[in-house]
Amino acid sequence: MSSSPSSPEDHIVILDFGSQYTQVIARRVRECRVYSEILPFRTKASVLRASRPKGIILSGGPASVYAKGAPKVDKAIYDLGIPILGICYGMQLVSRDLGGNVERSERREYGAGRLKVDRRSDLFHGLPAELDVWNSHGDKVTKMPKGFRALGTTENSPHAVIGDTRRDIYGLQFHPEVAHTPRGREILENFVYRVCGCQSQWTMGSFIEKTCEQIRQQVGDGKVILGLSGGVDSSVAAALIHKAIGDQLTCIFVNNGLLRANETAAVEKLFKDHFHIRMKTVDAEKQFLARLKGVTDPERKRKIIGNEFIKVFEAAARDLKKSFPGRYRFLAQGTLYPDVIESVSISGNPAALIKSHHNVGGLPERMKFELVEPLRQLFKDEVREVGSELGLPKEVVQRQPFPGPGLAVRVLGDLTPEKLRMVSEADTIVIEEMKASGWYYKVWQSFAVLLPVQSVGVMGDERTYEKTIALRIVESRDGMTADWVRVPYDILAKISTRIINEVNGVNRVCYDISSKPPATIEWE
Ligand code: XMP
Repeated sequence: MSSSPSSPEDHIVILDFGSQYTQVIARRVRECRVYSEILPFRTKASVLRASRPKGIILSGGPASVYAKGAPKVDKAIYDLGIPILGICYGMQLVSRDLGGNVERSERREYGAGRLKVDRRSDLFHGLPAELDVWNSHGDKVTKMPKGFRALGTTENSPHAVIGDTRRDIYGLQFHPEVAHTPRGREILENFVYRVCGCQSQWTMGSFIEKTCEQIRQQVGDGKVILGLSGGVDSSVAAALIHKAIGDQLTCIFVNNGLLRANETAAVEKLFKDHFHIRMKTVDAEKQFLARLKGVTDPERKRKIIGNEFIKVFEAAARDLKKSFPGRYRFLAQGTLYPDVIESVSISGNPAALIKSHHNVGGLPERMKFELVEPLRQLFKDEVREVGSELGLPKEVVQRQPFPGPGLAVRVLGDLTPEKLRMVSEADTIVIEEMKASGWYYKVWQSFAVLLPVQSVGVMGDERTYEKTIALRIVESRDGMTADWVRVPYDILAKISTRIINEVNGVNRVCYDISSKPPATIEWE
């Protein structure tokens, strides 16, 4: 299943020029309950004509419109009769393409500014005459194209907002999509509703209904396998596909021995007992640990785990036919929208730096499955919303990310059952205390790492020489950058005391105060 550009629904296309905020624009439009889709800047006007978006937004981007090789649009998009909103680079492009003038400023305008607006413009309907806005641009428009007039000005720029209201083509020099432009959401809402005439149709309820129908169409009476990890994406995919096709879905859950404490039981309880989803648990703990014995290199650990997973999964899929006969032609995956956006490789575009090692690849190619990917249109928070609507509990839909290689990358150096026990017990304490204090759902991740370090301590009258746990609690928007969380000392104290008292073999706890970059979130 792919996101369908010919969706009959009202939708907005965002042409991406490599701004770090492109996905934020798409999110903002969807928050207006209108479907949005990100396409590469070089998308042909004919493609857009065929998919009939109600509006086109040209994103910002790191380039200067006059730079050699600067990204351009197919100029025929200006003649489609579809409203256009250029943001920052997008605005400069509109100005230059339509005969205006853009010049390099001596200095980049960066940061907060005050915008005076023409309140008669549809874009500023319901907004005050002056707004706080966020700027980040080098070039600026010095002469507007024919037919355009200024709809907003700042101290530095008489052309901070421009528009040709006859053709519904607009440009904003600032970024309406970022939180630093507090009323920006309303500007985008005005564009989407008042200028483009969109109706709000994009709700997670309507998504579920439409997607169930699509799944039924795609699968027919075929059978689907899904690798359930217990994480948010595969859990929501399972619940959604089950709603669509019931027992035609079978989930495979692999216990690799590197999971959080009680994970297998919790997943079985929810999916088997509560949702009555067909599920097969494969206990492969011994097999994984045997393959990992003595391995210390983090990359080798990841590779071994990835390869072993494929082997175990393939065998389980073959075996399925014995317990649940039928032809399994489809493999379901919880792929999300950020994974399928074709990122623009313009230098300086962090969105292009997508990590590949996080996804278990190789399964579909080897097993000749047809993919079912019902979440590939969605952003993470939309997936969570869908999960809640489907009746998944908060503990699942708001769950913190957990790496595929699991606790293996949280025991530094070689793995032993004893070390896994320590890190798993410490992890349980961290989760319990973070939940009890209300911090678990406020942070991106909070977990324990077992260090290959022993240090001296005292316990009663005895000298101890035991292991160290590092506590990692970070905040992040997408895992690409992160900062350590300034949690209250009392919480750190409670966690530390409990770990040292309750986890045999640990006599010291440290708090990791490194940000990403340069450190990563996981220690391996
Ligand atoms: P790093 O450690 O690279 O992690 O800063 C960024 C985010 O990705 C998660 N992570 C993984 N997720 N498979 C996954 O599914 C992996 O191999 C993997 N390694 C790291 C990490 O927990 C953090 O949220």
